[in-house]
Amino acid sequence: MSERTAAMILGTGSEVSGRVLTNADLEKMVDTSDQWIRERTGIERRHILEEGKATSDLAAGAGLKAIEDAGLTPEDIDLIIIATITPDTSFPSTGCRVQTKIGADNAAAMDISAACSGFIYGLSLANAMIANGQVRYVLVAGAEVLSRITDWEDRGTCVLFGDGAGAAVLGPSDGKKGILSTYIKSDGKLGHLLELPGGGSLNPATEETVRQRLHYIKMEGGDIYKHAVRSMKEAAIEGLKRAHCKPEELDLLITHQANIRIIEALQARLKTPDEKVFINIQEYGNTSAASIPIAMDQARREGRLKDGHKCLLSAFGGGFTWGSALIQF
Ligand code: UT7
Repeated sequence: MSERTAAMILGTGSEVSGRVLTNADLEKMVDTSDQWIRERTGIERRHILEEGKATSDLAAGAGLKAIEDAGLTPEDIDLIIIATITPDTSFPSTGCRVQTKIGADNAAAMDISAACSGFIYGLSLANAMIANGQVRYVLVAGAEVLSRITDWEDRGTCVLFGDGAGAAVLGPSDGKKGILSTYIKSDGKLGHLLELPGGGSLNPATEETVRQRLHYIKMEGGDIYKHAVRSMKEAAIEGLKRAHCKPEELDLLITHQANIRIIEALQARLKTPDEKVFINIQEYGNTSAASIPIAMDQARREGRLKDGHKCLLSAFGGGFTWGSALIQF
């Protein structure tokens, strides 16, 4: 156990809601096939949130479960961090909306924009703020409604994404469990590889931006793939190094669930056996910032992640961003 370990995970929760969209459903919408999607990505189905609900609803659902799992109440939470690229609105933040929805009246709340690496960024920030004594209990959630920014006419992207939220509550370490290392990094020069061009101050919404489909995800899949493999390897290796941990000491590897081939490439690099790699991309698709906390919660509920286990989280995402967290459960 590192002397610097300050914070631990006290509880987790996740929430998916809405209809299930299968690969067979997508075959009727664009020129694709179940076989292509399975072989190239590992995805079989994803969830699409029902109309009238938003990211904060999913985050609040996951957050309340995590708070209950931690044995706390919403009033105990000092800080809410929501990692999302699909906020309900630019402002107020989704964090503030979640605060109201769950009744965390004593908290400060904010959003983090680091795309699929957002949950790792949130963990890193929460860990540091607990370490320096500014806060005691932090709710960190990754929550996305990507279906609202997905171009359902673009087969290159629409088969990939899904909606969902996952959350963790962090508090002071008990001396046995804790966050052993965090590592975050970004390279803005690669921002153009994955972006939502419209709707911000650069390209505010006009009839023209709608006509040009600028309010949908634009992605250079092949280039992202290359950088994903490179950056997740770097993040994993750096995270392990910072905690003086060898890959063979890991009990579970949870990566961002973007493509099963990217996960397998990291697995091969770390020589991690299949039973120590958690994969649920087949069920949810790529849920961006939500993918790691959903997987972490599911792994705990299924008994794959137990007290005493060492778990490495590793992510990459638009920005370009990447990072890792090594956690002693
Ligand atoms: O969270 C981060 C978000 N993004 C990512 O992680 C994306 C990372 N990249 C990837 O996962 C992969 O690059 C993809 C899954 C997006 C694409 O897989 P790929 O093996 O790189 O395929 P490709 O883009 O090289 O396309 C191969 C072929 C092309 O046809 P041609 O030019 O060979 O005739 C595509 O037009 O597959 C075609 N294609 C499709 N075919 C059926 C592209 N999308 C589809 C589709 N169904 N949905």
